Amino acid sequence: MKILVVGNGGREHALVWKLANDSTQPELFCTPGNAGTAEWGTNLSLGATDLEGIQQWCIENQPGLVVIGPEAPLCLGMADVLEAEGFRVFGPNQAAAELEGSKQFAKEIMKAAGVPTSAYETFTDADAACEYVRTRSIPIVIKADGLAAGKGVTVAETVEQADAAIRDALEGNAFGEAGSRVVIEDFLVGEEASILALIDGENVVMLASSQDHKRIFEKDLGPNTGGMGAYSPASIVNETVLKKVKEEVYDRTLAELKKRGITYKGVLYAGLMIENDQPSVVEFNCRFGDPETQAVLTRWDGDMLPAINGVIDGTLSEEMIQWKDEHSVCVVMVAGGYPGDYAKGVEIQNLDKADAVQDTVVFHAGTGTGTDGDKVVTAGGRVLGITSLGTDLPDALSKAYIAVETISFEGAFYRNDIAHRELRRLEDG
Ligand code: GLY
Repeated sequence: MKILVVGNGGREHALVWKLANDSTQPELFCTPGNAGTAEWGTNLSLGATDLEGIQQWCIENQPGLVVIGPEAPLCLGMADVLEAEGFRVFGPNQAAAELEGSKQFAKEIMKAAGVPTSAYETFTDADAACEYVRTRSIPIVIKADGLAAGKGVTVAETVEQADAAIRDALEGNAFGEAGSRVVIEDFLVGEEASILALIDGENVVMLASSQDHKRIFEKDLGPNTGGMGAYSPASIVNETVLKKVKEEVYDRTLAELKKRGITYKGVLYAGLMIENDQPSVVEFNCRFGDPETQAVLTRWDGDMLPAINGVIDGTLSEEMIQWKDEHSVCVVMVAGGYPGDYAKGVEIQNLDKADAVQDTVVFHAGTGTGTDGDKVVTAGGRVLGITSLGTDLPDALSKAYIAVETISFEGAFYRNDIAHRELRRLEDG
């Protein structure tokens, strides 16, 4: 069977790797892919949001499955377009993807459903928004309503920062149409964790927990990034938290969507803040997380296709998914300067040596092949996600960092403290 994976990040390399290793041995295609996905299948030159191009390719090549990785094509309705042509698609329809496509919609659903989340208001008028900030506590969170490529969220530590973020979005057009409306939320206190769940319209199966590290610098300092590393499992997500996430987050959200005639099929990522075993939703994403996917899929024991088919056919069950007892760690290597300006086209060395480290996979993100075709070069801010399994967290960390230190490219940067909270918990016993 032919499978097309849409996207070009570390998440898509992890999906291609997992699907290419399925016991049914499917033929993998990825569009546009990266140098890593090219090792497991054929990269196409169609952009991830090229709805017409991808539809045409599917008509000509008849894939048995299309897995849509990023939020942008999902929010544009790629699943709807391909399903209308009769293709089997993994990824929510456009209406369901609004949970990520509009922060206002997600908050409205959560409020109506009684999902634990912070208080909020929505504004299109900057003066009214600034006035509202003065009635709330600091820090406060300003979010562009629409998709802003991970850049639309400001955690304002002062009223002046909040005012600036509001005026940048509503008056300065900083995020274009996506920022023409802002959601202002109270700041949640606690520890963040991520839960990804597969949903077949009715049944919800939560995947292994993980924790991302969003800030660029160690000790969680500096600007936000797409994610600098992740590990799984995250013990902050204990049995009590899991039960609450299932009942108070997923079941309530799905019931509210259903009331509005919206069916959710695919993966729903709940970004959580957990305090005293009580989870609150920070954000929903309509897709797999990155780098959480790299940490979670390496722990998935056995084939993934039965669960994907279960999602599409409405027959998903817990038995379709087993987890390895091992722990995983993903360390992201980025280009110097990221998340600001950075160089592209820089040669990456020793990828094979790093891949040969025991229990380790080097997932590519922003990579491509050089002009002569035999070099791998940087092509994005987040370049690689080195992911290792270990009998315990320290074992996984030690393998991952051995592999990271094997790789070199000019300006390479990574955090040395991935999983620091979990390590502290281990030390504290
Ligand atoms: N790791 C954060 C995200 O995927 O949105």
